[in-house]
Amino acid sequence: MDTMLTLALSKGRIFQETLPLLAAAGIVPLDDPETSRKLILRTSQPNVQLIIVRASDVPTYVEYGGADIGVAGKDVLLEHPNAELYEPVDLQIAKCKLMTAGREEDQDPTGRLKVATKFIESTKRFYAQKGQQVEIIKLYGSMELAPIVGMADVIVDVVDTGNTLRANGLVPLEHIADISSRLVVNKASMKTKHTQIQTLIEQVREAVNKNG
Ligand code: ATP
Ligand code: PRP
Repeated sequence: MDTMLTLALSKGRIFQETLPLLAAAGIVPLDDPETSRKLILRTSQPNVQLIIVRASDVPTYVEYGGADIGVAGKDVLLEHPNAELYEPVDLQIAKCKLMTAGREEDQDPTGRLKVATKFIESTKRFYAQKGQQVEIIKLYGSMELAPIVGMADVIVDVVDTGNTLRANGLVPLEHIADISSRLVVNKASMKTKHTQIQTLIEQVREAVNKNG
C-alpha cells in the first residue's frame, strides 16, 4: 500500500492548466476549488490528495514538507532563491514574461530609479547585473498603479498579452525572464516516496512532451 502523496496547487490559472497533466497521470480531483471551500481535495486516486494554497506559498509548502510536490510559476520560484527543492519538469503552462514597464512619456527620470514590484529578488538581481542603483518599493498587487500615481518610475510584473499594461497607459520596456510553471518536489519525499514520485514525474513529462 502506497503512502499518501500531497500535491500543492494554486487556484485559477495553474489549477486549470495542470488538470490535463494530472489526468495524464490518472489523477482527477473529486472537487472543484473554484466552487468548493475545501482546501484539501481528494482525487480519483485514494493515495493522492491536492492542497489549495496561494501561488506564492507553493515553494514554502513543498520545501517544508507540507506537500510532497507542487506546481509553481518560475517568477515565484525566483523569489525563493535558497529554497531546498527539486525542479524536475518545466510544465510549459502559464507562460508569460517578467518585464519592466512604465509610462512611455516619463522614461528619463532624474535621480535614482524607483521600481515598484512584488518581485523583489528578481528586481534586485536584474538591476544589480546592469550595475544600476535603484530604489525598490514592495507591493503585493496592482503594480500598474504605481507609475500612474507618481509613486514609481517603473514596475516589474509579469506580462502576457500586454492588455493589463495597455489598459493602464503603460508600455513594456525591458525583458527580464521567460516564465512558465514548474513541477517542484520536496527533497526528502523524493527519497522516501521515490517510486510514486518518479512515476508521476514520468507521466507528467510525457504529457508535456505530447503537448509540445
Ligand atoms: P498570489 O495569489 O500568490 O498573489 P497570483 O495571483 O500571481 O498569486 P495567479 O494569477 O494564479 O497567481 O498566477 C499564477 C502564476 O501564473 C504566476 O506565478 C505566473 O507564473 C503565471 N501568470 C501570471 N499571470 C499570467 C498571465 N497573464 N498569463 C500567463 N501566466 C501568468
Ligand atoms: C496577471 C498579472 C498581470 C497580468 C498580465 O494578472 O498580474 O497583471 O496577468 O497579463 P496580460 O499581459 O495578458 O494582461 P491576472 O489576470 O492573473 O490577475 P491577478 O493575478 O491580479 O489575479
